[in-house]
Amino acid sequence: MGSKSTLIINGTLVDAQKQSQQQLLIIDGKIAAVDKVITDYPVDTEVIDASGLYVMPGGIDVHTHFNIDVGIARSVDDFYTGTRSAACGGTTMIIDHMGFGPKGCDLFHQLKVYKGFAKDKAVIDYSFHGVIQHINDEVIEDMHAMVHREGISSFKLYLTYNYKLDDTGALQALNRLNQVQALTAVHPENDAAIALKRSQLIKAGKTSAKYHAISRPLECEAEAIARMINLAKLADDAPLYIVHLSNGLGLDYIRLAKQNQQAVWSETCPQYLLLDDKLYENEDGAKYLMSPPLRPKAELEKLWQGVEDGSIDTVATDHCAFSYKEQKVSGNDDFSVCPNGMPGVETRMPLLFSEGVMSGRITPEKFVEITSFKPAKLFGLYPQKGCLLPGSDADIVLFNPELKVHISHENLHDNSDYTPYESHQVNGWPVMTISRGEVVACNGEFLGKAGAGQFVHRLPFDKNKI
Ligand code: URP
Ligand code: ZN
Ligand code: ZN
Repeated sequence: MGSKSTLIINGTLVDAQKQSQQQLLIIDGKIAAVDKVITDYPVDTEVIDASGLYVMPGGIDVHTHFNIDVGIARSVDDFYTGTRSAACGGTTMIIDHMGFGPKGCDLFHQLKVYKGFAKDKAVIDYSFHGVIQHINDEVIEDMHAMVHREGISSFKLYLTYNYKLDDTGALQALNRLNQVQALTAVHPENDAAIALKRSQLIKAGKTSAKYHAISRPLECEAEAIARMINLAKLADDAPLYIVHLSNGLGLDYIRLAKQNQQAVWSETCPQYLLLDDKLYENEDGAKYLMSPPLRPKAELEKLWQGVEDGSIDTVATDHCAFSYKEQKVSGNDDFSVCPNGMPGVETRMPLLFSEGVMSGRITPEKFVEITSFKPAKLFGLYPQKGCLLPGSDADIVLFNPELKVHISHENLHDNSDYTPYESHQVNGWPVMTISRGEVVACNGEFLGKAGAGQFVHRLPFDKNKI
């Protein structure tokens, strides 16, 4: 195969540190040069005129659930439709949270299964977070090989759901993952409090969608966040990553830990920044059923503050898409039979760009930081990804800040039958996505290929490099 080169001219390059008027040359999938004027390039180089556009590192979504079996249903996006949708929204890499495997399975089991799911389907690069569904000597032993042989340097544990860990298990996991240079991610919710509230509500016949949120109030989440922060401290200051943060009280605990120089990082999602729990009162409230649930409106502003002041490090999606008509609709009457989760992988970048950058809340540099740079740093991808440096993968998104788009599911590329953001108007849209030097999406059209995405072997976690 011959060499392929592309030169991007006239754009405003943005990374997490600065904006500049520079040209960017791509050769064979890598960034070959970034300079004011590039004159040395192959004769057959394709030129992309990025006048009026921002040229940014492609988005990295570190929280998806493609092809996940949650017991009562399987999500509708596999690694083809999920990554296709991601690519059309300006995302060039995802890290998927693998679902639970058979009871008692070892740590490698789900990795093998998920590599099989993704291999011939993913259109952009991918990796997985390890999943810890129980703790025993074998799991403890195998954590080292997962990080250093398999390139899986983050693991998620759950404090609720079927395979929750108790405090002993969580502490053991934190200790060992710290030793083997891995980042512990946690789904923090107090399982006992939720179980009690849930059973009381169900017994009283209070099962419509809004009771899902009432069964897991924000204190359940905040308590579990505070507990995990303290357990991480006890585990010799193990690095800790809080996923899908939804409320201000939890954020206060994270902020305090950061003020105390603890190795704690956090992620929120567009739904917690933009949507509130009033939606559960609509007749289609089941569309928004997920855990943690949407919160009262006052929480949204607190989370934006967290993004702005750096207490929140990343914005991912928790994309876990089900069909409303076939899989979620029953949740309108009975939240307990509704699969949890929503689509969002395609709308993350445009929503954040519009509500963050265009509304003046954050700078374009901050946008890059939370959507690409910090995810790359935390999850062992930097400098391969998350930046526009010579030698890095040519994973790039071109944003047109002038384009106004009414979001409609009709124009998205996932396999669900709705978007939680139907009719939202956004200012700015990703008009081109480049993955390893190939244009995979342009002006709303998908141009990529199933199987072109590569599994990325991630570096061990090193807090001195964040
Ligand atoms: O409701 C949600 N968020 N479903 C996906 C699984 C999880 O908890 O992240
Ligand atoms: Zn979760
Ligand atoms: Zn999730």
